[in-house]
Amino acid sequence: MCGIIGFTGNEKAIPKLVEGLAALEYRGYDSAGVAYFGGGILQTVKAKGRLTNLAARLENIAGEGITAGIGHTRWATHGEVSDVNSHPHGNQRTCGVHNGIIENYSELSAYLETEGYTFASDTDTERAILLIDFLYTRTGDPVRAMQEAAERIKGSFAFAVMFSERPDSIYAMRRDSPLLASPSDVGMFIASDISAVLGYTRRFARIEEGEVAVLTRDSIEYYTRDGKRLTKEYETTPWNPEAAERGGYAHFMIKEIHEEPTVVSGTVRPRIRDRLPYLDLPLLTAERIQSIRQIHIAACGTAMHAGLIGKYAVEKLARIPVNVEIASEFRYRNPILQPDDLVILISQSGETADTLAALRLAKSKGVPTLAVVNVPGSAIAREADAVLYTWAGPEIAVASTKAYSVQIALLYLLSIHFGKAMGTITEAETRNLCEELANAHQYIEKSLGLADHCRSIAEIYKNHRNIFFIGRGRDFALSMEAALKMKEISYIHCEAYAAGELKHGTISLIEKGTPVVAFATESAVFDKMISNIKEVRSRGARVLLFVPEGYAIPEDTADDIIRLPDIPEVFMPLCAAAPAQLLAYYTAVELGCDVDKPRNLAKSVTVE
Ligand code: AGP
Repeated sequence: MCGIIGFTGNEKAIPKLVEGLAALEYRGYDSAGVAYFGGGILQTVKAKGRLTNLAARLENIAGEGITAGIGHTRWATHGEVSDVNSHPHGNQRTCGVHNGIIENYSELSAYLETEGYTFASDTDTERAILLIDFLYTRTGDPVRAMQEAAERIKGSFAFAVMFSERPDSIYAMRRDSPLLASPSDVGMFIASDISAVLGYTRRFARIEEGEVAVLTRDSIEYYTRDGKRLTKEYETTPWNPEAAERGGYAHFMIKEIHEEPTVVSGTVRPRIRDRLPYLDLPLLTAERIQSIRQIHIAACGTAMHAGLIGKYAVEKLARIPVNVEIASEFRYRNPILQPDDLVILISQSGETADTLAALRLAKSKGVPTLAVVNVPGSAIAREADAVLYTWAGPEIAVASTKAYSVQIALLYLLSIHFGKAMGTITEAETRNLCEELANAHQYIEKSLGLADHCRSIAEIYKNHRNIFFIGRGRDFALSMEAALKMKEISYIHCEAYAAGELKHGTISLIEKGTPVVAFATESAVFDKMISNIKEVRSRGARVLLFVPEGYAIPEDTADDIIRLPDIPEVFMPLCAAAPAQLLAYYTAVELGCDVDKPRNLAKSVTVE
């Protein structure tokens, strides 16, 4: 997703813009650019491809006296990847960058053409910035121009805009797409997320919809929709600069996989007191839980897969019906929601457009909402009725790993909390489960010891173009996440399948040597899984079996076996996640893929 950085202060702006854009690379992009006031005019430098291409074009710009500027990494939505379509856009008077999608850009084009405007690019952004320019020529007031433009624009946006007549100022506003304003000792920043400014400040204020922020060298002013001054409180992120660095690892992804024991422990242990869940959620008293008709979990990608694990845990421990849905489906199918339901939104970034829309739909129907989110102060966290933060720290790699592990760990704790309230588990069982969960990090640590075994299997898998992942029950949910991890970073086509369903058609795709990864941690269906493995092996498949240490496996069941640490079965996905992620990681490394920034992907999908 696009990244925005802006700076105005008492030091050179260009190095801070490039530094900020580098920190935002993880969001995913295909071109970059900056704008600054230099030599008495607004200047722009843009380059498609990696940030190094832009940095090379900025090399000869001394930057002395340039103390204000805006920068952007573009994830193309309207218009091909090219220098001219890169941001910033505008003219000599008004220049800006944008994250989001302008839905009525054709209408804006037609209107601006009647006012004499022409366009250099194919982008919706250029139309929006020139609309701001037009309104500025009419009002002479940047704040009013921005607010009137917001009234005319349909769609999502985060804008950072400069005006040549106000060279030291930056004007910002947003709708749906995230934007933060951050004061520091060296000047004022605007950014899509806090990671872009962590080297200078940990303070931030979220710009709310309808507000305009005006950054000058030594102040940030906020204006409401009707132009009144607004005072905002600054929050301080718990994240520190080191947390957003690679710390000697080859990639952020491998670093973040290795952080799993620590962040899982750091997320659940503070919420377990006297071996009982301590969630401090007034929304979820025992009475409220007992009245829940149905839980709906809406999320995307990995977060949705975590929701599936949560479903199995809640239904097993609390016997409350749980429906898990892809947020982009949930938001448009007019779901049947009742006020005594509960909607849980899961999101690492807290900014995913579809998940945010699902939240807003639930609230519009009067259904209580609980967010399970990693990024402090993000939109989903702020708009939900209650939030349970995962404390995974910044997750920089596009492929989500530690966030998945802390999401399922927190969902386990929530399911224990529900089970205790429903009386479907005894107090003794509650305490035992909490104790096991509080010590889960030891088992995860042990599963990281399987890295070399995963790496050796990756050397085989890298040669294949199709891989199947199969499982039953929660192992099917695990297969879905393992398949996503593998395909999104190695570009090998992968398909997760319910093991019992294969024989109803898909097994026709199995031929000699086809890799099949089988998860068999559910004891209740273990024998069935062994039969399903035999079905594919008898047709030539090469099977990798993930199975708990203590399970007896019939002779000649699989070609490779990864034995997982014997954590209590219900928590087994916590131990299987890391090896599955490592398998994907080493396969992608073997193939020379861009592990942390896979092609076409964005870390936070803030557009539909
Ligand atoms: C996971 O590896 C992917 N990067 C992607 O599926 C991601 O989980 C999804 O876009 C949801 O993001 P969120 O958790 O920030 O809402």
